Amino acid sequence: MSQSKRIEKEGITQSEYLNLIAELMTIRKRGEVPLAYIRTYGCQQNVADSERIKGMLFEAGFSFTDTPDDADFILFNTCAVREHAEDRVFGNVGALKNIKRKHPSVLIALCGCMMEQEHVAKRIHDSFPFVGLVFGTNCLHEFPRLLYNNLLYGKRTFLRGNTDENVYEGIPIKRDGLFKGFLPIMYGCDNFCSYCIVPYVRGREKSRKPEVVVSEAREMIESGYKDICLLGQNVNSYGKGLEPRPNFSSLLKEIDSIDGDYWLRFMTSHPKDCTKELIDTIAQSKHISHHLHLPFQSGSNRILNLMNRRYTREKYLDIIKYAKERIPDLSLTSDIIVGFPGETYEDFQETLSLIKEVEFTSLFTFIYSRRKGTPAAEMPDVVSDEEKSKWFQELLKVQEEIAAKRCAQMVGSVQKVLVEEKSSNKEGVLCGRTSGNIIVEFEGDDSLIGSFENIKITKARNWILNGEQIKE
Ligand code: SAH
Ligand code: SF4
Ligand code: F3S
Repeated sequence: MSQSKRIEKEGITQSEYLNLIAELMTIRKRGEVPLAYIRTYGCQQNVADSERIKGMLFEAGFSFTDTPDDADFILFNTCAVREHAEDRVFGNVGALKNIKRKHPSVLIALCGCMMEQEHVAKRIHDSFPFVGLVFGTNCLHEFPRLLYNNLLYGKRTFLRGNTDENVYEGIPIKRDGLFKGFLPIMYGCDNFCSYCIVPYVRGREKSRKPEVVVSEAREMIESGYKDICLLGQNVNSYGKGLEPRPNFSSLLKEIDSIDGDYWLRFMTSHPKDCTKELIDTIAQSKHISHHLHLPFQSGSNRILNLMNRRYTREKYLDIIKYAKERIPDLSLTSDIIVGFPGETYEDFQETLSLIKEVEFTSLFTFIYSRRKGTPAAEMPDVVSDEEKSKWFQELLKVQEEIAAKRCAQMVGSVQKVLVEEKSSNKEGVLCGRTSGNIIVEFEGDDSLIGSFENIKITKARNWILNGEQIKE
C-alpha cells in the first residue's frame, strides 16, 4: 500500500537543503538574485511537476528568466510520449553546449519522462557531458538535496528509477497561472496500453489522499483560482491502494461542495473505467464543467484489442449516449492515434465513423510513434508514412467540418466565459473559454481578465466563437 510522506532525507529536511542552497547562491552571486530557466515539454503532468520544481527553487531564493543565457540554473523537463517530442529535446539540449562554454558556472539539468529510459540516460551521459544533473519523474522530492550537492561539489549526478511507492507531500508550488491551475490527484499509470511509454517512465499508479487533495483545492479556490483541473493519467481509477478506498466521484463531490465561483475540470478519463456514476456526478454538480475528455484512440474493435484498451466501440458509444442524455450541453473531446501497427484503411474508416457519430468539439490527433520497450513496437507495421499522413489529413478535414458545425449551433446562445488573455491578433479584443473549453473572442477591457463574463455568441469562425459582453 502506498504511504503519504513529508519530504525528508538523512536527518536534513528538504526545506533545510533549500535554505542551504539560498546561502550558497548568495555567496556565489555576491547578493545578486540567482536566476533559473525552466522549459517544460509534454503534458499537464509535466507542467504540474515543473510548478513544484519552481516552488522549491523560489524558496531557495531563485527568480525566473525566459532567457537561458542569463540563467545560473537551466532545467528541461522532458516528454517521451512520441519520437518527435524526444528529437526536439535532444536538439535543444545540444544547443545548450554553447551556453555552458560561455558561462561555465551554469548548471544544466534534465528531468522528466525521457530520463526514466535507460537508453536515453546513457546517451545523455555519454554524449552530453555538459549536463550536470539528471533526475527521473519520481525523484522530485529529492531535488533540493541533489541540487545542493551538485552546486557544492560539482559532481555529475544521475538519479532515476521509479519503484518508490510513497507519495510525497509538502513540496512547495509556484503555479504558472493566477486563476487557472492544475491539481494532481494521482501519479503513474497501470494500464499499459500497448503503444504507450507512460507506465514505464512514470511508474505504478499512486493516489494522493482525498483530504490532501481537497485541502489543496480549497486553498486554490480561496486564493482566487477560477478553473481547477484535477490531473491523473486515468482519474477514473483514483483511490487504488488507499484505505479506506475513496472513488473519483466521491472526491469530485467533496470538492464540488466547497463554496465559491469556480469551475472544476479533470483529465484524463479512461473509457474502460468511466462510469454512469461519474456522469451523474457531473450532471448534479454545481461547479464541474460540462466537458468530458474521453480518449477513444481507435474506432475499430480489432485495433482497440491490439492496443490493450479493454473496451469496445459499442461500450464507448453507450457511455457517450448516456452522457449526452444526462448533460445535453456536454462538450466532448478525445485523443486519437492514426496508423497503429496493423491498422488497415477499413479500421481507420471505423475511427472516422465514430467521430461523425459522436461529434466531438475538438480532437487531439496523433500519428502512431514507435516507442522502444512497448509491446506495439514489436508488432508488424507495414503501412507507409505517406499513407498514414493521408489518413491523418482525411481525419482532420472531417473533424474541421464537425467543429465548425458545432460552433455554428452555438450562435445566439449566451455563454459563461472565463476571460483568459488579450487576443494576440487584434487590439482591444479578449480571449476566453466556455465551460466546454471552446475559445470565445469579444471586445472588452483588460481588467476583465481572470473573471467570468456572460457573452452573447454572435458568430462562429470554424472552432472559435465571437461574441459580445452582456453588461448587467
Ligand atoms: N493517460 C491518457 C493520455 C496519455 S498520453 C489517456 O490514456 O488518454 C496522451 C495521448 O498521446 C494518448 O491519449 C495517445 O493518444 C497519445 N499517444 C500515446 N502514446 C503514443 C504513441 N506511441 N504514438 C502516438 N500517440 C501516442
Ligand atoms: Fe498511456 Fe494508456 Fe496509461 Fe494513458 S492509460 S497513460 S494511454 S498507458
Ligand atoms: Fe510526456 Fe510524460 Fe506526459 S511522456 S505526455 S510528459 S506523462
